[in-house]
Amino acid sequence: MHKIIITGGIGYIGSHTVVEFLESGYEVVIIDNLSNSELSVLEGIEKITNKKPIFYEADICDENEIKNIFHQHSDTKALVHFAASKAVGESVEKPLKYYKNNIGGLVNILTNMLEIGVNNIVFSSSCTVYGQPKILPVTERSPIIKPESPYGNTKKISEEIITDTVNANENLKAISLRYFNPIGAHPSALIGELPIGLPNNLLPFITQTAIGLREKLLVFGNDYNTPDGTAIRDYINVCDLAKAHLFAVERLLDNKSNFNHEFFNIGTGKGNSVLEIIKAFEKSTGQKLNYEITSRRFGDVEQVWADTSFAEKILGWKAETSLEDTVKSAWDWEKKNRGRVE
Ligand code: NAD
Ligand code: UD1
Repeated sequence: MHKIIITGGIGYIGSHTVVEFLESGYEVVIIDNLSNSELSVLEGIEKITNKKPIFYEADICDENEIKNIFHQHSDTKALVHFAASKAVGESVEKPLKYYKNNIGGLVNILTNMLEIGVNNIVFSSSCTVYGQPKILPVTERSPIIKPESPYGNTKKISEEIITDTVNANENLKAISLRYFNPIGAHPSALIGELPIGLPNNLLPFITQTAIGLREKLLVFGNDYNTPDGTAIRDYINVCDLAKAHLFAVERLLDNKSNFNHEFFNIGTGKGNSVLEIIKAFEKSTGQKLNYEITSRRFGDVEQVWADTSFAEKILGWKAETSLEDTVKSAWDWEKKNRGRVE
Protein backbone atom coordinates (compact mmCIF):
# COMPACT_ATOMS: atom_id res chain seq x y z
CA MET A 1 0.00 0.00 0.00
CA HIS A 2 1.60 3.27 -1.14
CA LYS A 3 1.47 6.26 1.12
CA ILE A 4 0.59 9.61 -0.42
CA ILE A 5 0.41 13.12 1.03
CA ILE A 6 -2.41 15.32 -0.24
CA THR A 7 -2.18 19.00 0.66
CA GLY A 8 -5.50 20.84 0.55
CA GLY A 9 -7.25 17.46 0.76
CA ILE A 10 -10.29 18.85 2.61
CA GLY A 11 -11.01 21.32 -0.22
CA TYR A 12 -13.31 20.91 -3.20
CA ILE A 13 -11.07 19.06 -5.66
CA GLY A 14 -8.80 17.66 -2.95
CA SER A 15 -11.62 15.85 -1.12
CA HIS A 16 -12.82 14.12 -4.30
CA THR A 17 -9.22 13.14 -5.02
CA VAL A 18 -8.72 11.75 -1.51
CA VAL A 19 -11.75 9.51 -2.14
CA GLU A 20 -10.22 8.22 -5.40
CA PHE A 21 -6.90 7.38 -3.73
CA LEU A 22 -8.50 5.71 -0.71
CA GLU A 23 -10.74 3.65 -2.97
CA SER A 24 -7.69 2.60 -4.98
CA GLY A 25 -5.95 1.30 -1.86
CA TYR A 26 -3.56 4.15 -1.06
CA GLU A 27 -2.82 5.29 2.46
CA VAL A 28 -3.63 9.00 2.46
CA VAL A 29 -2.15 11.74 4.66
CA ILE A 30 -4.02 15.05 4.36
CA ILE A 31 -2.48 18.41 5.27
CA ASP A 32 -5.00 21.27 5.31
CA ASN A 33 -5.32 24.39 7.45
CA LEU A 34 -9.10 24.62 6.84
CA SER A 35 -8.71 28.20 5.60
CA ASN A 36 -11.23 27.50 2.84
CA SER A 37 -12.90 24.28 3.96
CA GLU A 38 -14.69 22.56 6.84
CA LEU A 39 -13.68 19.58 8.90
CA SER A 40 -17.12 18.01 8.24
CA VAL A 41 -15.79 17.11 4.78
CA LEU A 42 -13.66 14.47 6.48
CA GLU A 43 -16.84 12.73 7.64
CA GLY A 44 -18.13 12.72 4.06
CA ILE A 45 -14.88 11.15 2.86
CA GLU A 46 -15.06 8.50 5.59
CA LYS A 47 -18.72 7.68 4.86
CA ILE A 48 -18.04 7.22 1.14
CA THR A 49 -14.90 5.14 1.51
CA ASN A 50 -15.31 3.47 4.89
CA LYS A 51 -11.70 4.45 5.45
CA LYS A 52 -9.98 7.03 7.62
CA PRO A 53 -7.27 9.17 6.09
CA ILE A 54 -4.62 10.60 8.42
CA PHE A 55 -5.38 14.30 8.88
CA TYR A 56 -3.16 17.18 10.01
CA GLU A 57 -4.66 20.62 10.51
CA ALA A 58 -1.52 22.48 9.49
CA ASP A 59 -0.38 25.35 7.33
CA ILE A 60 1.87 24.41 4.40
CA CYS A 61 3.80 27.64 5.01
CA ASP A 62 4.72 26.61 8.58
CA GLU A 63 8.28 25.35 8.23
CA ASN A 64 8.53 23.49 11.56
CA GLU A 65 5.13 21.85 11.42
CA ILE A 66 5.52 20.66 7.83
CA LYS A 67 9.01 19.36 8.59
CA ASN A 68 7.61 17.35 11.52
CA ILE A 69 4.84 15.87 9.40
CA PHE A 70 7.24 14.87 6.64
CA HIS A 71 9.58 13.24 9.17
CA GLN A 72 6.66 11.21 10.52
CA HIS A 73 5.80 10.06 7.00
CA SER A 74 9.21 9.55 5.44
CA ASP A 75 7.84 6.46 3.62
CA THR A 76 5.61 8.69 1.45
CA LYS A 77 5.87 7.84 -2.24
CA ALA A 78 4.17 10.86 -3.82
CA LEU A 79 2.50 14.16 -3.01
CA VAL A 80 -0.48 15.85 -4.64
CA HIS A 81 -0.39 19.59 -4.05
CA PHE A 82 -3.78 21.33 -3.98
CA ALA A 83 -3.33 23.73 -1.06
CA ALA A 84 -3.50 27.29 -2.34
CA SER A 85 -5.69 30.37 -2.21
CA LYS A 86 -7.85 30.58 -5.32
CA ALA A 87 -10.09 33.66 -5.40
CA VAL A 88 -9.09 35.64 -8.49
CA GLY A 89 -10.67 38.95 -7.36
CA GLU A 90 -9.17 38.75 -3.86
CA SER A 91 -5.74 38.11 -5.39
CA VAL A 92 -5.92 41.46 -7.17
CA GLU A 93 -6.62 43.21 -3.84
CA LYS A 94 -4.21 41.15 -1.73
CA PRO A 95 -1.44 39.98 -4.06
CA LEU A 96 1.03 39.30 -1.25
CA LYS A 97 -1.38 36.90 0.47
CA TYR A 98 -1.39 34.91 -2.78
CA TYR A 99 2.35 35.01 -3.36
CA LYS A 100 2.99 34.03 0.27
CA ASN A 101 0.52 31.16 0.38
CA ASN A 102 0.76 29.77 -3.14
CA ILE A 103 4.45 30.37 -3.80
CA GLY A 104 5.80 30.27 -0.22
CA GLY A 105 3.73 27.14 0.49
CA LEU A 106 4.99 25.37 -2.63
CA VAL A 107 8.62 26.21 -1.83
CA ASN A 108 8.21 24.81 1.69
CA ILE A 109 6.59 21.62 0.37
CA LEU A 110 9.31 21.09 -2.27
CA THR A 111 12.04 21.75 0.31
CA ASN A 112 10.67 19.03 2.58
CA MET A 113 10.11 16.63 -0.31
CA LEU A 114 13.78 16.94 -1.24
CA GLU A 115 14.92 16.58 2.36
CA ILE A 116 12.94 13.40 2.99
CA GLY A 117 13.23 11.97 -0.51
CA VAL A 118 9.59 12.15 -1.60
CA ASN A 119 10.33 12.07 -5.31
CA ASN A 120 7.00 12.58 -7.06
CA ILE A 121 4.67 15.58 -7.12
CA VAL A 122 1.43 16.28 -8.93
CA PHE A 123 0.62 19.98 -9.04
CA SER A 124 -2.77 21.73 -9.44
CA SER A 125 -2.32 24.14 -12.29
CA SER A 126 -4.96 25.90 -14.33
CA CYS A 127 -5.99 26.72 -17.88
CA THR A 128 -5.64 30.33 -16.71
CA VAL A 129 -1.96 30.05 -17.81
CA TYR A 130 -3.16 30.16 -21.45
CA GLY A 131 -5.25 33.34 -21.09
CA GLN A 132 -7.33 33.83 -24.27
CA PRO A 133 -5.64 31.42 -26.70
CA LYS A 134 -5.48 32.48 -30.36
CA ILE A 135 -6.08 28.90 -31.54
CA LEU A 136 -8.74 26.58 -30.09
CA PRO A 137 -8.83 23.99 -28.71
CA VAL A 138 -5.81 24.76 -26.60
CA THR A 139 -2.98 22.22 -26.48
CA GLU A 140 -0.19 21.88 -23.92
CA ARG A 141 2.13 23.53 -26.44
CA SER A 142 -0.01 26.67 -26.73
CA PRO A 143 1.78 29.83 -25.57
CA ILE A 144 1.74 30.66 -21.87
CA ILE A 145 0.82 34.32 -21.50
CA LYS A 146 1.17 36.92 -18.78
CA PRO A 147 -1.73 36.14 -16.42
CA GLU A 148 -4.47 38.70 -15.77
CA SER A 149 -4.35 38.26 -11.98
CA PRO A 150 -1.84 37.58 -9.21
CA TYR A 151 -3.65 34.26 -8.66
CA GLY A 152 -3.04 33.26 -12.28
CA ASN A 153 0.54 34.43 -11.95
CA THR A 154 1.09 32.13 -8.96
CA LYS A 155 0.13 29.17 -11.18
CA LYS A 156 2.56 30.24 -13.91
CA ILE A 157 5.38 30.89 -11.41
CA SER A 158 4.65 27.63 -9.55
CA GLU A 159 5.04 25.65 -12.78
CA GLU A 160 8.38 27.41 -13.36
CA ILE A 161 9.56 26.75 -9.79
CA ILE A 162 8.75 23.07 -10.20
CA THR A 163 10.60 22.92 -13.54
CA ASP A 164 13.70 24.57 -12.04
CA THR A 165 13.57 22.25 -9.03
CA VAL A 166 13.25 19.00 -11.02
CA ASN A 167 16.03 20.19 -13.33
CA ALA A 168 18.32 20.60 -10.35
CA ASN A 169 17.31 17.32 -8.66
CA GLU A 170 17.34 14.31 -10.92
CA ASN A 171 15.34 12.08 -8.57
CA LEU A 172 12.41 14.48 -8.43
CA LYS A 173 9.64 14.07 -11.02
CA ALA A 174 6.56 16.25 -11.51
CA ILE A 175 3.31 16.39 -13.39
CA SER A 176 1.31 19.61 -13.60
CA LEU A 177 -2.36 19.17 -14.41
CA ARG A 178 -3.91 22.23 -16.01
CA TYR A 179 -7.56 22.05 -14.99
CA PHE A 180 -10.24 23.69 -17.06
CA ASN A 181 -13.50 24.44 -15.15
CA PRO A 182 -14.20 21.83 -12.44
CA ILE A 183 -17.90 21.43 -11.59
CA GLY A 184 -20.25 18.94 -9.93
CA ALA A 185 -20.06 16.81 -6.83
CA HIS A 186 -19.57 13.20 -5.76
CA PRO A 187 -22.61 11.07 -6.85
CA SER A 188 -23.27 10.23 -3.17
CA ALA A 189 -23.82 13.97 -2.51
CA LEU A 190 -21.71 13.49 0.62
CA ILE A 191 -19.00 15.84 -0.61
CA GLY A 192 -19.09 18.72 -3.08
CA GLU A 193 -18.19 22.37 -3.50
CA LEU A 194 -18.69 24.56 -0.40
CA PRO A 195 -18.11 28.15 -1.47
CA ILE A 196 -17.77 30.62 1.37
CA GLY A 197 -20.02 33.68 0.92
CA LEU A 198 -21.07 34.85 -2.53
CA PRO A 199 -19.88 32.31 -5.11
CA ASN A 200 -17.71 33.61 -7.97
CA ASN A 201 -18.05 30.53 -10.11
CA LEU A 202 -20.97 29.76 -12.38
CA LEU A 203 -22.25 26.41 -11.12
CA PRO A 204 -22.52 27.22 -7.39
CA PHE A 205 -24.25 30.46 -8.37
CA ILE A 206 -26.74 28.53 -10.48
CA THR A 207 -27.55 25.96 -7.79
CA GLN A 208 -27.79 28.61 -5.04
CA THR A 209 -30.16 30.63 -7.23
CA ALA A 210 -32.32 27.61 -8.02
CA ILE A 211 -32.61 26.74 -4.34
CA GLY A 212 -33.62 30.29 -3.46
CA LEU A 213 -30.48 31.62 -1.75
CA ARG A 214 -29.92 34.11 -4.60
CA GLU A 215 -32.56 36.07 -6.46
CA LYS A 216 -31.16 35.56 -9.94
CA LEU A 217 -28.08 34.58 -11.87
CA LEU A 218 -26.38 37.39 -13.76
CA VAL A 219 -25.03 36.16 -17.10
CA PHE A 220 -21.89 38.17 -17.76
CA GLY A 221 -22.20 39.31 -21.37
CA ASN A 222 -24.05 38.06 -24.45
CA ASP A 223 -22.06 40.08 -26.96
CA TYR A 224 -19.09 37.71 -27.30
CA ASN A 225 -18.09 36.33 -30.65
CA THR A 226 -19.66 32.92 -29.91
CA PRO A 227 -22.75 31.20 -31.40
CA ASP A 228 -25.16 32.47 -28.69
CA GLY A 229 -23.04 35.45 -27.60
CA THR A 230 -22.20 34.08 -24.12
CA ALA A 231 -18.70 32.99 -23.06
CA ILE A 232 -17.51 29.44 -23.57
CA ARG A 233 -15.62 27.19 -21.11
CA ASP A 234 -14.68 23.54 -20.78
CA TYR A 235 -16.60 22.22 -17.74
CA ILE A 236 -15.01 19.11 -16.27
CA ASN A 237 -16.66 16.78 -13.76
CA VAL A 238 -14.83 16.93 -10.43
CA CYS A 239 -14.72 13.11 -9.99
CA ASP A 240 -13.29 12.68 -13.49
CA LEU A 241 -10.77 15.38 -12.61
CA ALA A 242 -9.94 13.61 -9.34
CA LYS A 243 -9.19 10.40 -11.28
CA ALA A 244 -6.65 12.27 -13.43
CA HIS A 245 -4.53 12.69 -10.26
CA LEU A 246 -4.54 8.94 -9.71
CA PHE A 247 -3.41 8.37 -13.30
CA ALA A 248 -0.69 11.01 -12.86
CA VAL A 249 0.64 9.53 -9.60
CA GLU A 250 0.68 6.04 -11.12
CA ARG A 251 2.56 7.32 -14.15
CA LEU A 252 5.18 8.84 -11.85
CA LEU A 253 5.44 5.76 -9.62
CA ASP A 254 5.74 3.47 -12.65
CA ASN A 255 8.58 5.65 -13.99
CA LYS A 256 6.73 6.21 -17.23
CA SER A 257 7.34 9.95 -17.54
CA ASN A 258 9.07 11.13 -20.71
CA PHE A 259 10.22 14.34 -19.05
CA ASN A 260 11.01 15.31 -15.46
CA HIS A 261 8.12 17.77 -15.52
CA GLU A 262 5.13 16.94 -17.71
CA PHE A 263 2.00 19.03 -18.35
CA PHE A 264 -1.49 17.82 -19.18
CA ASN A 265 -4.73 19.61 -20.01
CA ILE A 266 -7.56 18.20 -17.93
CA GLY A 267 -10.88 19.05 -19.53
CA THR A 268 -13.57 17.38 -21.61
CA GLY A 269 -12.42 18.67 -24.99
CA LYS A 270 -15.80 20.38 -25.43
CA GLY A 271 -16.75 24.00 -24.94
CA ASN A 272 -20.14 25.04 -23.55
CA SER A 273 -21.59 28.52 -23.37
CA VAL A 274 -23.15 29.97 -20.22
CA LEU A 275 -26.62 29.65 -21.79
CA GLU A 276 -25.93 26.00 -22.65
CA ILE A 277 -25.00 25.33 -19.03
CA ILE A 278 -28.24 26.96 -17.87
CA LYS A 279 -30.21 24.82 -20.34
CA ALA A 280 -28.40 21.65 -19.24
CA PHE A 281 -29.20 22.53 -15.62
CA GLU A 282 -32.89 23.15 -16.36
CA LYS A 283 -33.18 19.96 -18.40
CA SER A 284 -31.44 17.60 -15.99
CA THR A 285 -33.03 18.96 -12.80
CA GLY A 286 -36.44 20.14 -13.99
CA GLN A 287 -35.76 23.47 -12.22
CA LYS A 288 -36.45 26.76 -13.96
CA LEU A 289 -33.61 29.22 -13.43
CA ASN A 290 -34.14 32.92 -12.97
CA TYR A 291 -31.40 34.72 -14.89
CA GLU A 292 -30.68 38.03 -16.52
CA ILE A 293 -28.08 39.14 -19.04
CA THR A 294 -25.74 41.85 -17.80
CA SER A 295 -22.44 43.32 -18.97
CA ARG A 296 -19.21 41.38 -19.31
CA ARG A 297 -17.18 40.62 -16.17
CA PHE A 298 -13.80 42.33 -16.11
CA GLY A 299 -10.94 39.92 -16.83
CA ASP A 300 -13.08 37.16 -18.39
CA VAL A 301 -11.78 35.45 -21.51
CA GLU A 302 -14.23 34.91 -24.39
CA GLN A 303 -13.75 31.23 -25.00
CA VAL A 304 -11.42 28.44 -24.02
CA TRP A 305 -11.60 24.68 -24.20
CA ALA A 306 -9.04 21.91 -24.07
CA ASP A 307 -7.46 19.67 -26.60
CA THR A 308 -7.34 16.56 -24.41
CA SER A 309 -5.71 14.20 -26.90
CA PHE A 310 -2.33 14.37 -25.13
CA ALA A 311 -3.84 13.41 -21.76
CA GLU A 312 -5.77 10.63 -23.47
CA LYS A 313 -2.78 9.22 -25.34
CA ILE A 314 -0.01 9.67 -22.80
CA LEU A 315 -1.76 9.69 -19.42
CA GLY A 316 -4.47 7.26 -20.51
CA TRP A 317 -7.12 9.51 -18.93
CA LYS A 318 -10.35 10.78 -20.44
CA ALA A 319 -13.41 12.59 -19.04
CA GLU A 320 -16.36 10.22 -18.81
CA THR A 321 -19.33 11.87 -17.09
CA SER A 322 -21.91 13.71 -19.19
CA LEU A 323 -22.61 17.39 -18.64
CA GLU A 324 -26.21 16.59 -17.61
CA ASP A 325 -25.13 14.07 -14.96
CA THR A 326 -22.48 16.49 -13.69
CA VAL A 327 -24.87 19.42 -13.38
CA LYS A 328 -27.41 17.12 -11.71
CA SER A 329 -24.76 16.03 -9.16
CA ALA A 330 -24.15 19.70 -8.27
CA TRP A 331 -27.90 20.12 -7.73
CA ASP A 332 -28.19 16.99 -5.56
CA TRP A 333 -25.33 18.29 -3.44
CA GLU A 334 -26.96 21.74 -3.13
CA LYS A 335 -30.27 20.20 -2.03
CA LYS A 336 -28.51 18.15 0.62
CA ASN A 337 -26.70 21.24 1.90
CA ARG A 338 -29.60 23.66 1.86
CA GLY A 339 -29.30 26.10 4.72
CA ARG A 340 -25.63 25.33 5.34
CA VAL A 341 -24.29 27.87 2.88
CA GLU A 342 -23.93 31.46 4.25
P1 NAD B 1 -10.34 24.82 -2.28
O1 NAD B 1 -10.15 26.18 -1.72
O2 NAD B 1 -11.67 24.17 -2.13
O3 NAD B 1 -9.24 23.82 -1.69
C1 NAD B 1 -7.97 24.24 -1.30
C2 NAD B 1 -7.71 23.68 0.09
O4 NAD B 1 -6.40 24.07 0.50
C3 NAD B 1 -8.69 24.19 1.14
O5 NAD B 1 -9.19 23.12 1.89
C4 NAD B 1 -7.84 25.13 2.01
O6 NAD B 1 -8.26 25.13 3.35
C5 NAD B 1 -6.46 24.53 1.84
N1 NAD B 1 -5.36 25.48 2.02
C6 NAD B 1 -5.22 26.71 1.46
N2 NAD B 1 -4.09 27.28 1.90
C7 NAD B 1 -3.51 26.40 2.76
C8 NAD B 1 -2.33 26.41 3.54
N3 NAD B 1 -1.52 27.47 3.57
N4 NAD B 1 -2.03 25.32 4.27
C9 NAD B 1 -2.84 24.24 4.27
N5 NAD B 1 -3.98 24.18 3.56
C10 NAD B 1 -4.30 25.24 2.81
O7 NAD B 1 -9.91 24.90 -3.83
P2 NAD B 1 -10.12 23.84 -4.99
O8 NAD B 1 -11.14 24.38 -5.92
O9 NAD B 1 -10.27 22.48 -4.44
O10 NAD B 1 -8.72 23.99 -5.71
C11 NAD B 1 -7.64 23.14 -5.42
C12 NAD B 1 -6.43 23.55 -6.26
O11 NAD B 1 -6.78 23.53 -7.63
C13 NAD B 1 -5.93 24.96 -5.96
O12 NAD B 1 -4.53 24.95 -6.06
C14 NAD B 1 -6.53 25.77 -7.08
O13 NAD B 1 -5.78 26.91 -7.35
C15 NAD B 1 -6.48 24.78 -8.22
N6 NAD B 1 -7.45 25.06 -9.28
C16 NAD B 1 -8.78 25.15 -8.97
C17 NAD B 1 -9.70 25.42 -9.97
C18 NAD B 1 -11.17 25.54 -9.64
O14 NAD B 1 -11.91 26.05 -10.46
N7 NAD B 1 -11.64 25.09 -8.50
C19 NAD B 1 -9.26 25.57 -11.29
C20 NAD B 1 -7.91 25.46 -11.58
C21 NAD B 1 -7.00 25.18 -10.55
C1 UD1 C 1 -12.50 31.63 -13.08
C2 UD1 C 1 -11.22 32.39 -12.97
C3 UD1 C 1 -10.04 31.52 -13.38
C4 UD1 C 1 -10.02 30.26 -12.54
C5 UD1 C 1 -11.37 29.57 -12.69
C6 UD1 C 1 -11.46 28.35 -11.85
C7 UD1 C 1 -11.85 34.74 -13.35
C8 UD1 C 1 -11.72 35.90 -14.26
N1 UD1 C 1 -11.29 33.59 -13.77
O1 UD1 C 1 -12.62 31.21 -14.40
O2 UD1 C 1 -8.83 32.21 -13.22
O3 UD1 C 1 -8.98 29.40 -12.98
O4 UD1 C 1 -12.42 30.47 -12.30
O5 UD1 C 1 -11.64 28.69 -10.51
O6 UD1 C 1 -12.40 34.84 -12.28
N2 UD1 C 1 -20.48 33.54 -15.17
C9 UD1 C 1 -21.67 34.23 -15.25
N3 UD1 C 1 -22.30 34.58 -14.08
C10 UD1 C 1 -21.80 34.25 -12.84
C11 UD1 C 1 -20.58 33.52 -12.77
C12 UD1 C 1 -19.94 33.19 -13.95
O7 UD1 C 1 -22.14 34.54 -16.33
O8 UD1 C 1 -22.40 34.61 -11.83
C13 UD1 C 1 -19.80 33.15 -16.41
C14 UD1 C 1 -18.42 33.76 -16.53
O9 UD1 C 1 -18.48 35.01 -17.15
C15 UD1 C 1 -17.71 32.70 -17.39
C16 UD1 C 1 -18.38 31.40 -16.98
O10 UD1 C 1 -19.63 31.76 -16.38
O11 UD1 C 1 -17.97 32.93 -18.74
C17 UD1 C 1 -17.56 30.60 -16.00
O12 UD1 C 1 -17.20 31.44 -14.92
P1 UD1 C 1 -16.39 30.93 -13.63
O13 UD1 C 1 -17.06 29.73 -13.07
O14 UD1 C 1 -16.19 32.10 -12.74
O15 UD1 C 1 -15.00 30.43 -14.22
P2 UD1 C 1 -13.96 31.23 -15.17
O16 UD1 C 1 -14.35 32.62 -15.39
O17 UD1 C 1 -13.74 30.38 -16.36
